[in-house]
Amino acid sequence: MIEISKDKTFHLRGKSYSYVMRVDGSGYLEHVYFGARVGEDDLSYLNAPSFLSFSPIPPDAYDPAFSLDHTPQEYASFGQGDFRTPSVLARRADGDVASRFRYLSHAVGDEEGESCLPKARGGETLAVTLKDALSGVTVCLRYTVYEDCDVLVRSAEIVNGGEEPVRLERAYSFSVDLPAGEYDVLRLHGRHLAERAYERTPLGHGTVRICSTRGASSHQMNPFLALLSRNADEDGGECFGFTLLYSGSYALEAEKSQTDAVRVQGGVGDTAFSWTLGAGERFTAPQAALIYSASGLGTLSREAHDFLRRHVIPVQSANRPIVVNNWEATYFDFDRQKLLALIGEAADLGIDTFVLDDGWFGKRDGDASGLGDWSVSTQKLEGGLKPLIDACKRRGMKFGLWFEPEMVSEDSDLFRAHPDWAVGKADVPRCKSRNQYVLDFTRPEIVDHVYARMAEILAANEISYVKWDMNRHITEFFSPALPAERMGEFSHRYILGVYTLAKRLRERFPQVFFEGCSGGGGRFDAGMLAYFPQIWTSDDTDAAERAKIQWATSFVYPISAMSCHVSACPNHQTGRVTPLSTRAALASLGPTGYELDLGKLSDGEKGEVRKQIAAYRETEALIMEGDLYRLSDPFRETVFAEMVVSKDKKSAYLVGMTMRAVPADFNRRIRLKGLDENRAYHVRELGLTLHGSTLMRAGLLLPKQQEYESWTWHLES
Ligand code: GLA
Repeated sequence: MIEISKDKTFHLRGKSYSYVMRVDGSGYLEHVYFGARVGEDDLSYLNAPSFLSFSPIPPDAYDPAFSLDHTPQEYASFGQGDFRTPSVLARRADGDVASRFRYLSHAVGDEEGESCLPKARGGETLAVTLKDALSGVTVCLRYTVYEDCDVLVRSAEIVNGGEEPVRLERAYSFSVDLPAGEYDVLRLHGRHLAERAYERTPLGHGTVRICSTRGASSHQMNPFLALLSRNADEDGGECFGFTLLYSGSYALEAEKSQTDAVRVQGGVGDTAFSWTLGAGERFTAPQAALIYSASGLGTLSREAHDFLRRHVIPVQSANRPIVVNNWEATYFDFDRQKLLALIGEAADLGIDTFVLDDGWFGKRDGDASGLGDWSVSTQKLEGGLKPLIDACKRRGMKFGLWFEPEMVSEDSDLFRAHPDWAVGKADVPRCKSRNQYVLDFTRPEIVDHVYARMAEILAANEISYVKWDMNRHITEFFSPALPAERMGEFSHRYILGVYTLAKRLRERFPQVFFEGCSGGGGRFDAGMLAYFPQIWTSDDTDAAERAKIQWATSFVYPISAMSCHVSACPNHQTGRVTPLSTRAALASLGPTGYELDLGKLSDGEKGEVRKQIAAYRETEALIMEGDLYRLSDPFRETVFAEMVVSKDKKSAYLVGMTMRAVPADFNRRIRLKGLDENRAYHVRELGLTLHGSTLMRAGLLLPKQQEYESWTWHLES
C-alpha cells in the first residue's frame, strides 16, 4: 500500500513493514524510516536538523543546521556536503561531478519500459523523480511493495535531461540510510566447489563492500548482504537483507558513518565502469530487493523465498524433472551405447529425464576444444541425438541437453572463423581459463549467431530441458566494437547480451525447462532466477559439503531453486564416503536428480533409489512451496537439520545429518519449528503422535547415528 501526504511524505507499507520518506524543506528526498509497521504519524521529527562542525550547509538549506552530511538520504549526491559514499556520479562535459538531486515529481503505477533486465512481477509501484539542478540529469527512483511478502523492490533510471553528454561513473540501484546502531553484517563468500559459506562480523566504522569484478555474480561473493541487529539469530531480532536481480559485476556496500548511521547501497559494480549518456539517453539500473524481518534470520529467508518464488522465478510446471545427468557418470568419455545403457537404467528406476552434459558437440573429448561449435558430433554419437531421444521416449522419459552458450574454445571452427569474436584484443594474447575464451556478448551479431545455433538444435529435436553453463570469468573487458569512451560499459552490456539470449530462447521455446549453472553455483543470483527456475547449486556433490552449501544458500534463495544430485562414492570432489541414504536425503532438499553410473549400483541400491524417487515425489510440493526452517547449523554444530512446513501447517518434512560423531552423546533434543502448536502431528518414522507445542518446545530426541548418517521425518496431521 502506498500513502502520500500533501506535504510529500511517502509511506510505503509492505506485508508488515513501513518504509517512509519525505521531501524536506529544501526539496531533498530524505529517508525517514524502514522497519516494523508504524502508524500514520508525521515522522519528520526523526530527522531533526542538527549542527555538526565540519558538516557543510548546502546553499539551499531550509534550516541553518541542515547538512546532507548526516541527513538520511534515498539516493545520495556528491559534492554538496555528504561525504559518505554517493549513489550516483555523473561527470559533465566540463569535468564537474557535483550533483544536487532534488524532488521533481512522483507518480503511482509508473512502469519501466520493456527490457531484458530481470524484473520482479506484480506489486504496487511508486516512482519519485529527482532532478539535478546542476546538470539537468534526472533520476527516477522506483519502489514496489507487495502485500504477500516483506520485500521492497527498488531501482533507479537515470536520464540525461541536459544538452551535453554526461558520463556516469557510478549509477547504483538503491541507497538507504539506516539509523545509528550496532549491527552485524552477514555475507556469503566462497569459491568453486565451496560456494556461499556464511560469515557474520560486527559492522565497524568505514565501509564493508562486497562485490564481483568477474563479469558474473561469482562463487566468490554472492550478491547478498544482510544487516542484523546484534541480538538477531534464526528466530529473533531485526534483520535487513539486500540482494540484486542482477548477474554481472556488482557492488553492495554497508558504510557506518561518523554518527554511527549506516548507509547500504549497491547496484552495477563501479570498478572500470562508466556509461555515457547523450542528451535524452537513459540508463536503467537493475532492480534490488530489500528484505525485512522483525523476527530473525529465519523469517528474513522465508520472506525472500516467498518473494523469489511468487514474483521472480518463472512459473512452469508443478513437477520439476527428476534427472539423471551423465557428467559424473562418464565425464567426456561416452558413446551412444554407454548413454543408452544409462537411459535404460534410469527408466527402470523411475527417473523421468536424461540430461546429456558436456561433450556432445563439435570436437569435444576434453575441455580444450569444441566450445562454440554447437552441432552434434556424429563421430562420437552415431546417428546424432535422435537414437538417444527415441530411447528416452520409448521409456517415457524426456531429454535434456547441456550448452555453454557464452564461450568459445581456441580450438574450434567458430574461433578459427572469427578470432575477433572472443572478448579482448585479437592481437594481444588473452587470458585463458579452463582453456577457453568468452564470446563478446556486447555485440548483437554474436548473440544472434549463438541464438541461431541453439534454436536450430532445440527446434530439430525433442528437448525439454537445457542446462546453461558458464565456466570462466571475464578478464579483458574490451570489445573492438565499442568506441573508446564507451569501454566502461562493457561489463553491463555483456550481461544484457546474456539476458537477451535467455529471453529470446525462453520465448521461442516455452516448453523447455532451463537450469542455470556456472561451474556449479557461480551465478546463483536473483537475476538468473528470473530466467531459470533452478540452478545447479555446486559442483561439490559431497553430502557433508552440500549440507553447508545448501544451508547458507537458503539464507536468501528458496530450496525450490537449488538443484541437488545424488552422486557416487567415494565422492569425486572430496573423496568422502557417505551412505547412499544420506546423499539422497540431502538431495531431496531441492529439485532432485542422480549423477552417477546407475549401472554400477547393486540390486539393493537400485531398490533404495526407486524408493527415494517415490519419496521425493511425495514431498515435492513441500520442497517447492513450503516454509523452510533451519534447525541445526552444520557450520557450527555437530548436526545438520532443516525442515519444511506446508503453508497450511498440516504437513512437514525434516532432513537431518550427523556432521560429526560425538561419543556418548545421547538424549540430545532437537526442537522443531514452524508447526501449529495446537495441532497433533504423527511422526511417521517414529510412530509418535505429538502436539506442535510439544514438538517445538520439548522437541524430539536426535537419533543415535554414526558420522554422516542421516534421517528424515515425515509429519502429518
Ligand atoms: C561445469 C558444471 C558441471 C558440468 C561441467 C561440464 O563444471 O558445473 O556440472 O556440466 O561444467 O564441463
